[in-house]
Amino acid sequence: MERLKRVIIVGATSGIGREVALCMLRRGWLLGVAGRREDALEELRKNYPEQAVAYPIDVMREDAAERLMHLIRQRGGMDLFFLSSGTGHQNPSIEEEIEIRTAETNVTGFIRMVTAAYRYFRTEGGGHIAVISSIAGTKGMGMAAAYSATKRFQNTYIDALAQLSHKQNTRIRFTDIRPGFVDTPLLEGGEYKYPMLMRADRVAGVIMRAVDRKKRVVIIDWRYRALVFIWRLIPQWLWERLKIDKL
Ligand SMILES: NC(=O)c1ccc[n+]([C@@H]2O[C@H](COP(=O)([O-])OP(=O)(O)OC[C@H]3O[C@@H](n4cnc5c(N)ncnc54)[C@H](OP(=O)(O)O)[C@@H]3O)[C@@H](O)[C@H]2O)c1
Repeated sequence: MERLKRVIIVGATSGIGREVALCMLRRGWLLGVAGRREDALEELRKNYPEQAVAYPIDVMREDAAERLMHLIRQRGGMDLFFLSSGTGHQNPSIEEEIEIRTAETNVTGFIRMVTAAYRYFRTEGGGHIAVISSIAGTKGMGMAAAYSATKRFQNTYIDALAQLSHKQNTRIRFTDIRPGFVDTPLLEGGEYKYPMLMRADRVAGVIMRAVDRKKRVVIIDWRYRALVFIWRLIPQWLWERLKIDKL
């Protein structure tokens, strides 16, 4: 009989990460879930006591990688590392504190988590790292400078690790998940109305198929694939003059 998949999800307390966690739990997979909100972690653990272990991790803290290793041990090992933690804000006034917090979560925190997972899998002789970045990394977005720049960083970092993994013969596979707008708490709190908004549970279903197939890059959904295609054709001088008021 095939061994049940052991997955660690960082960012499982809300939004896309939570929906992905629920999909995996319904399949009977064994999960280690993390995030900062202990009540949300406890709820997942309590609802699936046979399948879920939980441990709080704040990716902005220096002990995050150490805590991730603790969770992996608690889970009894890891086959798939799924990173959904992230933050993002519209910040046209370019407030420094927002920009820096975004970079600390989406860049420093991302590096902490992904490098720890990479080192773990390199030692174990292989594994699968899946991260949620965004289509926002395609181009610099004036309304969300730090967000789009950090998402581009994530895309490039995973490209780099995928190349390194081949060179080092680590047998680590990578999936870079790039959704368009998804209806989650991340988008709450502003006066903006988001077009082509997708449901988090539907997006989670698409993510599950991409993870099953170990797809390298997935843009969700087809409308955003078309949009990204068009964005890439726009010359820089024209892009800088576009009055995009979202993202
Ligand atoms: N919603 C969208 O339109 C959209 C589109 C494209 C990509 N994405 C990306 O999808 C990912 C998930 O976002 P979401 O939309 O599902 O938003 P969300 O509901 O706000 O979820 C964000 C998750 O990240 C966790 N997190 C945030 N800061 C953290 C920290 N310092 N340490 C540990 N965990 C932290 C949160 O948990 P705690 O608060 O409990 O720590 C939460 O579980 C993000 O990377 C986001 O950029 C979202």
